[in-house]
Amino acid sequence: MKFVLISAAFIYFLNPLEGVRILGVFPGATHSHFILGHTLMKELASRGHEVTVISAFPQKTPIKNYKDVDLSEILEESDEMKAAIFDILDLNPFTGAFMLNWWMTNATFEIFKMDNMQKFLKSDQKFDLVIIEEFMIYPFMGFCHRYNAPCITFSATGLSWMTSNQLGNPLSPAYIPNFFLPYTSNMNFFQRLSSSFMYVFCELIMHFYTLPQQNKILQEHFPGAPHITELYYNVSLTMINSHVSTHSPVPLVPNMIDVGGLQIKPPKKLPKDIQEFLDNAKDGAVFFSMGSNLRSIDMPSEKRDMFLKTFGKLKQKVLWKWEDETLPGKPSNVKISKWLPQTDVLAHPNIKLFITHGGLLSTTEAVYHGVPVVGIPLYGDQQMNLVNAENNGIGQSLPFTEVTEEKLTNVVQTVLTNTKYAEAAKKRSNIMQDQPMTPLERAVFWVEYVHRHKGAPHLRSAALNLAWYQYLLLDVTAFVLTVLVATILALRYLFKKICCNKKKSVVSKHKKRN
Ligand SMILES: *[C@@H]1O[C@H](CO)[C@@H](O)[C@H](O)[C@H]1NC(C)=O
Ligand SMILES: *[C@@H]1O[C@H](CO)[C@@H](O)[C@H](O)[C@H]1NC(C)=O
Repeated sequence: MKFVLISAAFIYFLNPLEGVRILGVFPGATHSHFILGHTLMKELASRGHEVTVISAFPQKTPIKNYKDVDLSEILEESDEMKAAIFDILDLNPFTGAFMLNWWMTNATFEIFKMDNMQKFLKSDQKFDLVIIEEFMIYPFMGFCHRYNAPCITFSATGLSWMTSNQLGNPLSPAYIPNFFLPYTSNMNFFQRLSSSFMYVFCELIMHFYTLPQQNKILQEHFPGAPHITELYYNVSLTMINSHVSTHSPVPLVPNMIDVGGLQIKPPKKLPKDIQEFLDNAKDGAVFFSMGSNLRSIDMPSEKRDMFLKTFGKLKQKVLWKWEDETLPGKPSNVKISKWLPQTDVLAHPNIKLFITHGGLLSTTEAVYHGVPVVGIPLYGDQQMNLVNAENNGIGQSLPFTEVTEEKLTNVVQTVLTNTKYAEAAKKRSNIMQDQPMTPLERAVFWVEYVHRHKGAPHLRSAALNLAWYQYLLLDVTAFVLTVLVATILALRYLFKKICCNKKKSVVSKHKKRN
């Protein structure tokens, strides 16, 4: 009885949470990033919390406890941009990094001007907790200040310079490559050199461009807010979209939580035509999708023909996410569909290969279901995700710009026929599924934890109290070097003095004799 009472009290103590008011800020036009945030916010709503989500993807059918602040206006402009992506593939990583910072700063500036955003800013709603997408959109942290609510960030990418420094997490460019670079954690000298340069470069952009520019936006829309850096370094918890099954193991401070695979649900029934198509694929099937952000129909026609010719030669069936009614020159073994439930398709046992652009959700879902991949990376972190996939032995990649019919046929056949890829994919899948709780349960636990412990300041790393040169021990190094050099100089001086005195005395003896 006593035990029951104690455990009841304990459970009550752990769950005094009745409807926490949570604001989710996922304003990016990138649907894959939104899916992650949305999955979490929906789950929180289903547990009785009152959730409000600022995003470009408002719900078509209302969800209980889930309110939208509709920013779908953003999408009108970004359709053009999606098409343009196939044209700007040659950016070097440095230009790419700067462009991304500029682009996100500009987007944030524009978002704050939108009518629905302004209306929301003027409303007098209150929130207990704010969850913000971590993607160079720091002015939104003004909400944490305004509601005096703990700030949680959610990074749709793995560990990076963005997520690390904010929490005082160690990130060594010696074995944690920047996501603009296609390296694994085993780098040679030149790779470590560019990894280090890139790291410093990104930090410089952050502190000399992004934060100062974004501080102006913050001050304009949240009058009286502290300088943006104060909010930037005051994050309670960060969730990152990674896991050791897809990423190399890295150090994480206790308020950084891996939630890779959070979007994956138990497989649902497929649409009837897709189910039949895959069930009838006696020799297996290949699934081809360039993700939600890129559209296959924007692909230059000569590249499209290379894919069609390659697929025509396969004995396997091919399911292609193609965003139009018809596909000219489509071979008989290919089925097109405008929209496909990606994880449910990957869960089908006849899927033998996934041809993907290498977005992190796609590579994670392939790993979860143990499907080998052929990666066709275009930009951003795709190349790095696929290099990781290759390193883990679950597939091969071929950059979009290098695709020819011959090369494509070659990699597709290799990954389909050599069983080592499927075996490695199975092994990775087992690693991903072997967890004490699902990534989504883990995410929900930590969100509620931060609320229970009022921002959980006990998790905050003391590294954040140091200036950067103190953190890097540059002051200590400088001190030790100074002492060392001073000692050497002093010894040399003394030594000179003693030996010269001797010489002098020898000389003077000579003189005396003469
Ligand atoms: C944002 O980008 C648009 C389009 O390129 C441009 O017209 C506008 O001036 C930019 N705004 C800022 C604040 O940089
Ligand atoms: C930092 O976060 C804590 C906990 O959420 C909060 O109490 C404090 O006011 C925040 N500081 C600033 C400068 O916003």
